[in-house]
Amino acid sequence: LTAFFVPKNFRGHRLLITAGPTFEPIDPVRGITNLSSGKMGFAIARAAQEAGAEVTLVAGPVHLPTPRGVQRIDVQTAQQMYDVVLPQAPQHSVFIATAAVADWRPASLSDQKIKKNGNKVAPTFELTENPDILAAVARLPKRPYCVGFAAESHDLLKHAREKLERKNVPLVVGNLGPATFGRDDNQLVLVDAQGHRELPRADKLSLARALVNEIAQRLHAKSA
Ligand code: CTP
Ligand code: CA
Repeated sequence: LTAFFVPKNFRGHRLLITAGPTFEPIDPVRGITNLSSGKMGFAIARAAQEAGAEVTLVAGPVHLPTPRGVQRIDVQTAQQMYDVVLPQAPQHSVFIATAAVADWRPASLSDQKIKKNGNKVAPTFELTENPDILAAVARLPKRPYCVGFAAESHDLLKHAREKLERKNVPLVVGNLGPATFGRDDNQLVLVDAQGHRELPRADKLSLARALVNEIAQRLHAKSA
């Protein structure tokens, strides 16, 4: 299927997507991050653009080319991602949070490299919680249709449903990791108020196209 034959069911809509990991610096040469290639989020951005949407992609540090026609904003930390996403969100009809946002960041940032020399004991770091971008967007008075992701190592359905409720979003997409991280294929399960449905295992672009279709149907059903 080439882009030409993709149904343009997102024409006239703006989609905001987060993708990739975030990186939380400890000092100028090191930091903490999550495992995420960004491939799923970038594939969704491409599929949404092909479906006629105007797409804004907010990306953490990844090594991926920008999909054609997509407006990309690069960030490093969760706080930077939050600061870009929150003011943009009300101008979009859909928000898809695929990013593997670091849940915590070091409570203080050292402006010089922490040296091993002279430190007899290993340093310890106090962490502080990052803002929850998806939950914050879902709380906006003029909120877009919000889609969360849940990458879990176990009890996928239970955790996905718990996130649906806790973040108060209409759709959560689950996948089991870390087996699929960085791979070109994936298996997704859609969890909403009605129940759950598996999308058959496929490459990430095919899954992204199927997912974009599912989201378009839900959005159009909601506004019909
Ligand atoms: N998310 C977010 N901002 C955060 C943490 C998560 O926007 N600070 C989004 C993710 O992009 C994803 C969804 O929330 O769409 C679920 O992320 P996940 O890490 O699975 O959930 P958490 O609420 O952080 O719970 P936990 O990591 O403990 O499972
Ligand atoms: Ca998390």
